[in-house]
Amino acid sequence: MSGGKGYDVIIMGAGAAGLMCAAAAGQRGRRVLVIDHAPEPGKKILISGGGRCNFTNIDSAPDRYLSENPHFARSALSRYTPQDFLELVERHGIAWHEKTLGQLFCDGSARQIVAMLLDECARGGAEVACGVTIGAIDHADGLFRLATSRGEAAAPALVIATGGPSIPKMGATGFAYEVARRFGLKVVQPRPALVPLTLSAEEALFRDLSGVSTPVVARCGKAAFREAALFTHRGLSGPAVLQISSYWRHGEAIGIDFLPDRKGDWLLAAKRERPKAGLRAILDEALPHRLAVALGERLGIAGDLGTIADRVLAQAQARLADWQLVPSGSEGFAKAEVTAGGISTAGLSSRTMEAKAVPGLYAIGEAVDVTGWLGGYNFQWAWASASAAGQAV
Ligand code: FDA
Repeated sequence: MSGGKGYDVIIMGAGAAGLMCAAAAGQRGRRVLVIDHAPEPGKKILISGGGRCNFTNIDSAPDRYLSENPHFARSALSRYTPQDFLELVERHGIAWHEKTLGQLFCDGSARQIVAMLLDECARGGAEVACGVTIGAIDHADGLFRLATSRGEAAAPALVIATGGPSIPKMGATGFAYEVARRFGLKVVQPRPALVPLTLSAEEALFRDLSGVSTPVVARCGKAAFREAALFTHRGLSGPAVLQISSYWRHGEAIGIDFLPDRKGDWLLAAKRERPKAGLRAILDEALPHRLAVALGERLGIAGDLGTIADRVLAQAQARLADWQLVPSGSEGFAKAEVTAGGISTAGLSSRTMEAKAVPGLYAIGEAVDVTGWLGGYNFQWAWASASAAGQAV
């Protein structure tokens, strides 16, 4: 925070959205200051995608985001696309690959993405100040004045880019919501999303399966995801369950189809074809052994298939296709990859991310009530919302 220097924009948070916004605004000739309390920028980028950063998803579309206003993200997402980010990545010579389902990762390291963003910030002359705490924020005479651990900073535009409270041990906070409320913006109740779900004592049988992974279709309400589920010592995880967790609310059941490739009356067909086989043996052929045993025990069907009434087998088949579980909870913000909810979009312009009632105040990234699916969607929202604000500030 160079003494005496005036700024056009102060961005709070040097994460994915803050750095992207700083680069865009700086390259438009704006004098930009980014402040972060962490000792280094982009910490979540560094740990993302197992250290390789799943930096976008080529299938990004508004229907892959949760928000009280599902249309809000449309404008920003259409003006800064995965292709735009990919061009930036390629301009910086970063090698990448598509892993699965449109998910793009660095071949090397997530550090390359942080280095790229810092390089873009430097090109725009943006100053990035880390290890700086922010105190009181005043707003008068068209200027936002911030008291910080390195003195006062002031600018006519202030961008909230401090993310959500998921993974607090990394320095994540609900600071964005405090600032938003202070300026009269509403906050949609934040909740952990893309988070493992826990199972109660009654479902202890499943907890004994810790480490078992299998492809499933997980459902909650109208949402359904076909990916792997993983049993953990506390409950359920894996991509299918993380995806569904964003839609799940306390008290609701989720449904798991353990055999998504078995269609129609497959169990009745098995009875006709192999009447001497037991259910356990049939399940064992299609599922990991420990899971087959656990589901078999739960279904409580003993004896050869040929001796079991069609009605009973039809019930078992239906249960295997939509196994109802009521999670006792989730592993919370400590383990959540993102925070759903956040600064209400009702008070923001979808074109610029500016607060309608507070000219000069902007909110971008995870701090806003827009939450993407697992698989690069959240970074794409960070880039797109940051770009929208960066062009406007
Ligand atoms: P972000 O959290 O990146 O940045 C906020 C910044 O604000 C931080 O630098 C923080 O230190 C700072 N800050 C917070 N409070 C402050 C305060 N009071 N004062 C000053 N500074 C403050 N997404 C994806 O698309 N692909 C992926 O591969 C992954 N992988 C992944 C793994 C893990 C383990 C997690 C936890 C998350 C992911 N994500 C992800 C989600 C993704 O990391 C997340 O959505 C973006 O980082 C959000 O970007 P923001 O810039 O909004 O917040």
